[in-house]
Amino acid sequence: MTIKIETERLYLREIIPSDVNGLFELDSNPAVHTYLGNNPITKIEEAEDYIKTLHQQYKENGIGRWAVIDKITGEFIGWSGIKLIREPMNNHQNFYEIGYRLIERYWGKGIATETTNALLNYAFENLKTDKVYAICHIENLGSKNVLLKSGLKLIEMFDYEGTEHNWFELNKAEWLNSKLK
Ligand SMILES: CC(C)(COP(=O)(O)OP(=O)(O)OC[C@H]1O[C@@H](n2cnc3c(N)ncnc32)[C@H](O)[C@@H]1OP(=O)(O)O)[C@@H](O)C(=O)NCCC(=O)NCCS
Repeated sequence: MTIKIETERLYLREIIPSDVNGLFELDSNPAVHTYLGNNPITKIEEAEDYIKTLHQQYKENGIGRWAVIDKITGEFIGWSGIKLIREPMNNHQNFYEIGYRLIERYWGKGIATETTNALLNYAFENLKTDKVYAICHIENLGSKNVLLKSGLKLIEMFDYEGTEHNWFELNKAEWLNSKLK
């Protein structure tokens, strides 16, 4: 099992089939889906299908949403990763998007901020890109805070599937400057 990223408290690695129960716990919780269209999963097969989709993305793009693992206990906390969005969204296409989704009992401990900072380093050091993006529902204040704390800039609001979302960007020069401060 290859660790992609190690942070102070966490490992990020590719999601594997044995993560299925953790993924089911994550995605069957309505609270997790409050700002994600309110459509939690109800069957373990849906978590299995998601793992297959992720493996396809790993194969095609070399990256994707990765499992967040507690370094000490080995527990599955959720996922966080960089997705290559190929389809058009808010007048962009083929762009790298930062995302995260954590099991509820792990919220409020700075975990998403820790993974986001690590993902930004990974994106700008390892991927051939000068820009990364992120998107969240305008009422998702936890996610908005994570992105702002991590240095992303709130650029505008846009309509995504009938709901107002915030659009964030960070370019490599801004990221490098923030490291010098
Ligand atoms: C969004 C999510 C990933 C945040 O993860 P987290 O590890 O709790 O985030 P962090 O602890 O790193 O930071 C959250 C920040 O937002 C703040 N925050 C959280 N909920 C908030 C709220 N309702 N209003 C205002 N601020 C809030 C926290 O206080 C914290 O800021 P602080 O460190 O300055 O106190 C997590 O809540 C989650 O998985 N939610 C469900 C899935 C989801 O919405 N994913 C994002 C889709 S865009």
